[in-house]
Amino acid sequence: MNDGLDPFDRASLIAVHDEGHAFDAVVPPIVQTSLFTFKDYDEMIASYRGERVRPIYTRGLNPTVRLFEEMLAKLEGAGDAIGFASGMSAISSTVLSFVEPGDRIVAVKHLYPDAFRLFGTHLKRMRIEVTYVDGRDEEEVAKALPGAKLFYMESPTSWVMDTHDVAALAALAKAQGIVTVIDNSWASPVFQQPISLGVDLVIHSASKYLGGHSDVVAGVVAGSTELIGRIRSEAYPYLGGKLSPFDAWLLIRGLRTLPIRMKAHERSALALARRLQDHPLVETVCHPGLGNHLPPGLLGTSGLFSFIVRDGVDVRRFADHLQFFKLGVSWGGHESLIVPGEVVLAQKAQPNSAAAFGISPRSVRLHVGLEGTEALWSDLEAAIDAASSG
Ligand SMILES: Cc1ncc(COP(=O)(O)O)c(C=O)c1O
Repeated sequence: MNDGLDPFDRASLIAVHDEGHAFDAVVPPIVQTSLFTFKDYDEMIASYRGERVRPIYTRGLNPTVRLFEEMLAKLEGAGDAIGFASGMSAISSTVLSFVEPGDRIVAVKHLYPDAFRLFGTHLKRMRIEVTYVDGRDEEEVAKALPGAKLFYMESPTSWVMDTHDVAALAALAKAQGIVTVIDNSWASPVFQQPISLGVDLVIHSASKYLGGHSDVVAGVVAGSTELIGRIRSEAYPYLGGKLSPFDAWLLIRGLRTLPIRMKAHERSALALARRLQDHPLVETVCHPGLGNHLPPGLLGTSGLFSFIVRDGVDVRRFADHLQFFKLGVSWGGHESLIVPGEVVLAQKAQPNSAAAFGISPRSVRLHVGLEGTEALWSDLEAAIDAASSG
């Protein structure tokens, strides 16, 4: 986008300003209805013929959901967006709109585990093959791409935090006429705008930072009007994972504070990651902001990162000693959370292997919420001490 605005200011303006609501209300209404009625026969037929664009049934079009979609499309610099009932619904509907039996997908490894499992179960049954590549190795990606239908990325990945040169990889796929999809949940549109880096479709688990308050499960995909139109015409109505009006309203409310929340998550998480890196009982910290430069295309870092404790540190005692970090999956909300690596490794759903996710049993994933940094650090420090003694 070439409007001369700083990306953070642009995101804040989009998130905060929208006008034209009934009664000049500053907050949009929740249009909580399943259907819309017509004044007469002709109006109904004209609407079905597509001569008039207006809501008919909420699974197809709902004004509150539409407002969220428009805001998200603007934040991502995309032509259009569609909201879904969950991030997984956005992922499955997007992928199924572009592949058919016999096709092949190239995906980066260390994906979000349920996306990996979707590929290894339903897509496998449909004879859709997935080739996993190390997205940090451009040569490996270039070799795998010819003949593929879709290139699926997550950057950074959400546990071991692999980062990729998104623009370089998207260019490789574009040269082969392959559609590129990215899961951008970790960075949010405040810290990464993949469309400007050449990516075609951008997916979010809106349950994370977009919502921001751990009170909604939702998803969204943004891209060109043409590609979103393809998803909207089939996968969206027939797979039916529709975002509800109330959840869309919660997401709109979440977006208002997304830019400032992201800055707060970034500041606190980076401070904690640096201190953990210096801690003698910590082996490695996986956080994309610890190098001298941010990875290409990333404008900032979020609150999610992981670390591996040294042999002999008892992860169970560490987890049970924490007071402010709660044990809980998901991330992106106001609260700080931890997930021990063992949780992902213990899940029975197949396919599942430690190598596929890159997760070690000595690893712990942290989501740094909006509490004070010093309180969070004293919590972590005390828990590491407790886990190493006796
Ligand atoms: C990186 C990432 N992508 C997608 C999803 C799936 O989103 P949802 O839980 O909203 O279906 C998650 C959920 O944890 C995730 O962490």
